[in-house]
Amino acid sequence: MNNVVILISGSGSNMRAIVQAALQEDWSGRYGARIAAVISNKPDADGLAWARSTGIAAEALDHREFANRADFDEALVQAIDRHAPALLVLAGFMRILGPAFVGHYHGRMVNIHPSLLPAFTGLHTHRRALEAGCTVAGATVHRVTADLDLGPILGQAVVPVLPGDTPEALAARVLVQEHRLYPRVLAGLLADMAVKL
Ligand code: GRF
Repeated sequence: MNNVVILISGSGSNMRAIVQAALQEDWSGRYGARIAAVISNKPDADGLAWARSTGIAAEALDHREFANRADFDEALVQAIDRHAPALLVLAGFMRILGPAFVGHYHGRMVNIHPSLLPAFTGLHTHRRALEAGCTVAGATVHRVTADLDLGPILGQAVVPVLPGDTPEALAARVLVQEHRLYPRVLAGLLADMAVKL
């Protein structure tokens, strides 16, 4: 079985879309893959309770309880590796991960970013896209490498920018597409991994 571990920080709507796709599309039967665990750096993340309610192991690892980033990263590796993940999925995980962490999961860690990368890496992507006068916006799923938000692109979804758009309105339009894009890209990766088994 190829285990998938998902990291979240907040509402976890992408995580929910992935879990729902895994159930509806029978990732277990098709790809020999299952969502093994959801881990949040915020104990009050809404998504944790939801994941637990679906029977998935869900736990919090509060980054504020650690003296520094390296200690947190090390504890996070331990929590994740208990589930022996074939794929580590960042879904709205709002912590920058250090080089040792990124190296440890090299080739098996992916992220979703709410812009058409390589444009608008980092934060406030929707506001910056509007300020730049973009006529399209979107989201990107990419492999995670040491270059923040700049690992190889695995898939993108494009949405129009509409007259009078606010960052919030644009974010909501992009998020709908994130929920379609992320499960589709993951299914593709898992299918490839299943073929290689
Ligand atoms: C998404 O827009 C994602 O692209 C970004 O943070 C947001 C997380 O949303 N990295 P959710 O927690 O999946 O609802």
